[in-house]
Amino acid sequence: MKVNIIGAGNIADYHARSIKALGYELGMIADFNEKAARQLADNYGCHWTTNTDELLAEKADLVTVAVPNAFHFDVAMAAVKAGHAVLCEKPMTRSAQQSRQLVELVEQNEQPFFVGYMKRVHPTVQKFREYVARIGTMRSGLVRVYHPMPSSSWPIIKKQLAQSPNAALDGVFVNSGSHMLDLLLYLAGPVKKVLAARMQYQEGCFPKVDQMTHALLEMENGSTVTVECGWLPLFGVGKRENGWDELIELRGESGLSTLHTTLWERPQYESPVAELWDESIKTKESFNAGMVDNFQEEYRLIEKALLGEAVTLATAQEAFAVDQLIDDIFAAAKQTGE
Ligand SMILES: NC(=O)c1ccc[n+]([C@@H]2O[C@H](COP(=O)([O-])OP(=O)(O)OC[C@H]3O[C@@H](n4cnc5c(N)ncnc54)[C@H](O)[C@@H]3O)[C@@H](O)[C@H]2O)c1
Repeated sequence: MKVNIIGAGNIADYHARSIKALGYELGMIADFNEKAARQLADNYGCHWTTNTDELLAEKADLVTVAVPNAFHFDVAMAAVKAGHAVLCEKPMTRSAQQSRQLVELVEQNEQPFFVGYMKRVHPTVQKFREYVARIGTMRSGLVRVYHPMPSSSWPIIKKQLAQSPNAALDGVFVNSGSHMLDLLLYLAGPVKKVLAARMQYQEGCFPKVDQMTHALLEMENGSTVTVECGWLPLFGVGKRENGWDELIELRGESGLSTLHTTLWERPQYESPVAELWDESIKTKESFNAGMVDNFQEEYRLIEKALLGEAVTLATAQEAFAVDQLIDDIFAAAKQTGE
């Protein structure tokens, strides 16, 4: 499989490393920042360009879109129009409206399109899906996403925003909450209605950056799910007591299933853990598949998908549902006066 990457920043390094580790071909990297493009290409021994069109004119089995969120729509649209199969980093775009347009284009062009919600590809998460099927009628759920953010970081963020107010910076809800909302929809099905939501923003950041989000969701399966997502300066909390406090808990009439997810950049040190309390046998089970690099797993599955196998990667349609839910939560937060 030959892959080309657009965007040569932080996450592109994880993609390039995975492509090489799996023995796939990394053909070209494009970034309008010449230094970034050249450096990443030098590190991984491939061609580079500052012109995205040049990359899109190249033959490849897959184009990975690894630019900041605000540019996903334009770059992914161009890649699909150029006839490429695409892996787009998450969130797919920054609005349901853009995502709907992208889904329409993907459906017209009939090229494979995957979105980088890579938490769901971990074998522990696949096992967790089996646990969820055993909880019976789902009554309630909790989606928790807390990441440690030292108070000392905020003045730096404020300064960076003041220097480049047009810089695309999304907060914790869009960047990390989106992963967990994808998991929720994947595991528990669609949301019927956002009942209430509140966003709290960090004071002094222009443009605004969210620090805490709360939402209450009515699911089509009749249950109610609470969402809490934030950047807080707490470092000793969470399953591993490292401040990374992420979980999904789904509670039904026959059981309680809990998934503790992990820090995305540490696949070699941490593994998600799935748990199930099964009321019928009064027993708690837990499952830990061990360390699996989500980025590598993503590419392995893409290769299978390109060969026609059904895989668990997020489709454009599924990622659109996440973007719609994000929009709905933002809208509900405005209605309740933040
Ligand atoms: N899967 C995950 O868990 C995960 C984790 C971190 C980041 N991400 C996602 O990865 C994406 C990139 O994040 P990052 O941290 O690497 O950002 P970054 O700012 O480090 O890098 C982005 C690069 O894209 C380049 N760029 C911007 N617009 C471009 C364009 N139109 N054409 C070509 N190059 C362009 C920039 O010059 C920069 O070098 C984001 O969408 C982010 O949400 C995903």
